[in-house]
Amino acid sequence: MEVKTIGVVGAGAMGRGIAYAAAFGGYRTVLEDVSPEMLEQGLTYIRQALDEGVARGKVTPEQKATALANLTTSSSIEDVCRETDLLIEAVPEEMEVKLEIFTIFDKFALPGAILASNTSSLSITELAAITFRAADCIGMHFFNPVPKMKLLEIVRALETSEATVQACAAVGRRMGKEVVVIRESPGFITSRINAMIGNEAFYMLQEGIASAEDIDKALKLGLNHPMGPFELVDLVGLDVRLNILEYLHKTLGEKYRPSPLLLQYVNAGRLGRKSGRGVYDYNSDGGKK
Ligand SMILES: NC(=O)c1ccc[n+]([C@@H]2O[C@H](COP(=O)([O-])OP(=O)(O)OC[C@H]3O[C@@H](n4cnc5c(N)ncnc54)[C@H](O)[C@@H]3O)[C@@H](O)[C@H]2O)c1
Repeated sequence: MEVKTIGVVGAGAMGRGIAYAAAFGGYRTVLEDVSPEMLEQGLTYIRQALDEGVARGKVTPEQKATALANLTTSSSIEDVCRETDLLIEAVPEEMEVKLEIFTIFDKFALPGAILASNTSSLSITELAAITFRAADCIGMHFFNPVPKMKLLEIVRALETSEATVQACAAVGRRMGKEVVVIRESPGFITSRINAMIGNEAFYMLQEGIASAEDIDKALKLGLNHPMGPFELVDLVGLDVRLNILEYLHKTLGEKYRPSPLLLQYVNAGRLGRKSGRGVYDYNSDGGKK
C-alpha cells in the first residue's frame, strides 16, 4: 500500500521531529498530543526548524510553505486514527501507555492502516499482540533530533508483513532517511550498542581509569564518535539510559548489568542536562560549567 497521510501521536521531542519529517516529505500530516501546551510547542519547533533550514539555504521558501500547508494538529487521537493511513506513536517509553495507544489505534484506525511505534527498546510484538492486526504493526525508530539525523531503524515484529515493512521503508526514504530493517530484538541495533558503550564508560569512570573528560575525548578523537559517551548520556538522560540497561539486562543477560555508578547518579537526581547535573554540571542556559 502507498501511504499518503501520517498521524503522529505525542508532540514531544520525537513526535514534533517526526511530524516535521513527514510534512517535509510531502505527506499530509496530523500531529496530536494530550497536552495543548506540548502541541503548541511542537508547532513552534517545526516552524523554527523550517525557518532555520531556509536561513541556512537547506530548505527553499516553497518547501517551507508546502511543509506548513501539509501540517495540521488535533486534540483527538480517535479523529487522527480515522483520517490517516500511517499512525506513529511517540508517547513516553512506558509499556502501559503504549498498549493503551495501540488499543485505540486498533479500535479506530482505517482498515489496512499501519500502526507504528517509535519506541527505543520495547517489544513491538507485545504491542501488536494487543491488536487484531499484528501484520500491520511495526517499529519505526527515529533519532533525535529527527530533522538532522539520517537513520530510520525499522523493526519487524514476529507477525509484521513484508508489505508493511516495504511501505514504511518507502516512507522513510521519502522523509530523506537511510533505512535499516531488523528483526525484533531488545534494544534493536542502536540502543543495544549505545547502551553497552555508555555502560562500559561508567564502569571505567568508577574504576578510576580516566576522567570523564578524557574518556569522552578518547572516543571522539580516537574512534571518531561525534560525541563522547558522557556528553551523550547527559543529553539522553541518565534515567532513560538506566531504564534501557535494566531492560537489556533482564532480556539479554549479565553483560548489560547497569554500572553501580550510573545507578548512584540517578538515585542522587543527577539525570543529565534536564536536571542541570549529570556526569557534568550545566548552567541555567544549558552550557557546560
Ligand atoms: N528522546 C530521544 O532521544 C528518543 C530517541 C528515539 C526514540 N525515543 C522514543 O520516542 C518516544 C517519545 O520520546 P520523547 O523523548 O519524544 O518523549 P517526550 O516526553 O518528549 O514526549 C512525549 C509526549 O507524549 C505526550 N503524551 C503522553 N501521553 C499521551 C497520550 N496518551 N496521547 C497523546 N500524547 C501523549 C506527552 O504530552 C508528550 O508531549 C519514547 O518511546 C522514546 O523512547 C526517544
